[in-house]
Amino acid sequence: MLTSAERQLLLEKARKAKLKAYAPYSRYLVGAALLTEDGEVFTGANIENASYGLTVCAERTAVFSAVLKGKKKFKGIAVSSKEGDLPYPCGACRQVLEEFSPDMEVILDISDGMKVYALNELLPYAFRLTLSEEG
Ligand code: THU
Repeated sequence: MLTSAERQLLLEKARKAKLKAYAPYSRYLVGAALLTEDGEVFTGANIENASYGLTVCAERTAVFSAVLKGKKKFKGIAVSSKEGDLPYPCGACRQVLEEFSPDMEVILDISDGMKVYALNELLPYAFRLTLSEEG
């Protein structure tokens, strides 16, 4: 469980990260801030592309930058988007977060506060890959 100070800090960082979004097509800015088990914060924002399907969400850019720095255990992620919208992570992002930390917290910006979930509430029965010995 995160402390309320940790949640507040992540929320502020997610709001700030939103300003880094590259979203000229949807104009829908999303920011994320991810807290690692060892107390580091990685931020992310959505990065769109003229070939729309190549867009990467804010949550995943945050996860990928953490993993590239060798961090793979997360305590929580805060997400912020348009004022008035509840920024529930999309299914793809839920699955990517679950890969690393199924029990992490997901903190959603609701302008005058926050909504907090456990990731496993948002993605029960996640896909996991079992590889056979024979291949
Ligand atoms: N988006 C995110 O960044 N995170 C989500 O979980 C859902 C959607 C972005 C992708 C796209 O740039 C914009 O929001 C509109 O779909």
